[in-house]
Amino acid sequence: MMQLEELYQEIKSCKSCNLWQCATQAVLGEGPQDAKIMIIGEAPGREEDKAGKPFVGRAGKLLRNTISSNLIKVYITNVIKHRPPNNRKPKKDEIEACSKFLLEEIKIVKPKVIIALGSTASKFLTGEEKINVAFEKEYKFMGAKVIVDYHPAAVLRNPRLYDKFKKKINEAYSNL
Ligand code: URA
Repeated sequence: MMQLEELYQEIKSCKSCNLWQCATQAVLGEGPQDAKIMIIGEAPGREEDKAGKPFVGRAGKLLRNTISSNLIKVYITNVIKHRPPNNRKPKKDEIEACSKFLLEEIKIVKPKVIIALGSTASKFLTGEEKINVAFEKEYKFMGAKVIVDYHPAAVLRNPRLYDKFKKKINEAYSNL
């Protein structure tokens, strides 16, 4: 079976869609191969594009602060590996082209629980169009329990969502 390092080489040289042309570099997943929990966002933003690491900007700091009291190993990644210009939402064909990498990451890491952050990850993993509907339900994806949560960028825009956001994160960790 393919290992993460091998997969990362493929992601770095991927030209399956046009996003690589505007991006600085591909943003790979981060975390141990035996992580029990996987957190999946939408796509790299400006800071992630610069650093080559997922969730290192303002939304990322909020996420990392929220999970920091847990010692359980976590793998953090995105549906899309190259930054869409001006942080626009990824297009359907871009998701189709890139999702093979996320599927491979899930196959290799085999997380017990997946936290889907925001509508793009939620829609990809649950098939449900509306995040508010998916938020209330439980799903399975490739053997993992899927928990849908708000995207931390949405929590930054609307701080009243923070308590619900954190409650969902705690719920995900309590399933391990
Ligand atoms: N937003 C995301 O969805 N992913 C990141 O890596 C950063 C911000």
